[in-house]
Amino acid sequence: MGKPSVRIGLLGLGTVGTGVARILTTHRDELDRKAGTRLELARVAVKDAKKAREVDLPPGLLTEDALGVIKDPSIDLVVELIGGIHPARLLVLEAIKARKHVVTANKALLAEHWSEIVSAARSAGVEVYFEAAVGGGIPIIQSLSEGLAANRIEAIYGIVNGTSNYILTRMDKDKKTFAEALKEAQKKGYAEADPALDVGGGDAAHKLVVLSSLAFDTAVPFGRVHVEGIEELTPQDFAYAREEFGYVVKLLAIAKREEDGLEVRVHPTLLPETHLLADVEGAYNAIFVVGDAVGSAMFYGLGAGQMPTASAVVSDVLYVARSIAYDVAGRAGWGPFGDIPSSAPALPIRPIADLTCRYYLRLSVLDHPGVLAAIAHLLGEHGVSIAAVVQKERAKGDRVPLVILTYEAKERDMRHALEKIEALPAVKGKTMLLRVERGE
Ligand code: NDP
Ligand code: HSE
Repeated sequence: MGKPSVRIGLLGLGTVGTGVARILTTHRDELDRKAGTRLELARVAVKDAKKAREVDLPPGLLTEDALGVIKDPSIDLVVELIGGIHPARLLVLEAIKARKHVVTANKALLAEHWSEIVSAARSAGVEVYFEAAVGGGIPIIQSLSEGLAANRIEAIYGIVNGTSNYILTRMDKDKKTFAEALKEAQKKGYAEADPALDVGGGDAAHKLVVLSSLAFDTAVPFGRVHVEGIEELTPQDFAYAREEFGYVVKLLAIAKREEDGLEVRVHPTLLPETHLLADVEGAYNAIFVVGDAVGSAMFYGLGAGQMPTASAVVSDVLYVARSIAYDVAGRAGWGPFGDIPSSAPALPIRPIADLTCRYYLRLSVLDHPGVLAAIAHLLGEHGVSIAAVVQKERAKGDRVPLVILTYEAKERDMRHALEKIEALPAVKGKTMLLRVERGE
């Protein structure tokens, strides 16, 4: 017979916390049966206890003293849903120190303080679960740490930011500009008032650190992820990519094992329109995983929102509660971390200059004799071979977009060639450079 109840201390009752409280109170009997113990929402810490709430809680549950919840000896499990680094980092570390098992959805905290949290959890012998940190309701963390554990993961390609995927979908389908599509995303409640982390690629990079650290059994430093956002894309890039070359443009979070290390990068990417990820539209997320035994597998669903995210949090709560109830929590590992960082040798992170891939270039050039030849010459001189060129007859003025698709080349060589190309008097403004991936 296990422990009759597991007492939960919830930190944060905002979008996700409210969803969690709702599931814990409405699905009570089923959850208790699945956990083999009673899941008791014992304390809920918020910033402002006087604020009106969207969920009915028994009186006396709310407090503004998050540290008090952590230190309460009757609390078995702390669920951190405050978000951000401060005070979430200190609270999570305090919870671990107090030997409380932790569930969190905080991808920023995990990505920026992965090693600190992993080693604190290891020394305290507590479990830290974070299913909701990537892909909202998609069970990708359990899938990587358990369902696909037999595999040596070769690559991960993720559409892990719903806001930017929504914007890219509108730019592609409705020919909207970035600014118009962003405004629409904000109106529909997808994008934050300050959407910099979403459209700049930072949020996807946080999620990539979590995914790749787990999948490749190494601690990927956040600062080593190459990050580019979607702000510079224009509707014409979508039109050229799709109509001329058969590609879609997606913000991909990519982690790939190469012989000499790991590639970790987030950037807008041309992906064949026949690829499964190409059909992931709007605010949906998907993670495409390549393992040596399983082959390719794709996980698809809602990457954000109150109830999808709460679904992932509560599944973690249930999992840990069951372990606590039967007194096995922390005995066979530290949650999805496994034994990281004890025995696995750290994988070197490859600099972006070492990347080899195909490229899409959109240049703005003067429509004069010899311009195309000069650009082709500079590319050739740097070992970059042209696969296709599109230049439409000019309608007005003397500038035209010149779009080039290359064969595979080293990024270092491509950058050197571009520097020289952009110095040509006939080349105007900055070139749009996008990487092309086959996603396999
Ligand atoms: P919200 O901003 O909606 O909620 C934050 C909550 O934290 C509020 O209830 C706030 O209290 C409380 N809070 C803030 N400071 C303190 C403090 N010092 N002590 C106690 N409570 C405090 O955040 P979300 O619910 O959107 O996000 C929570 C986490 O989930 C984040 O890590 C986020 O990245 C992650 N996540 C969110 C998703 C989403 O769709 N929203 C999707 C996936 C992950 P009060 O209510 O009084 O202001
Ligand atoms: N801002 C994030 C997104 C929320 O758009 O996907 C989920 O992490």
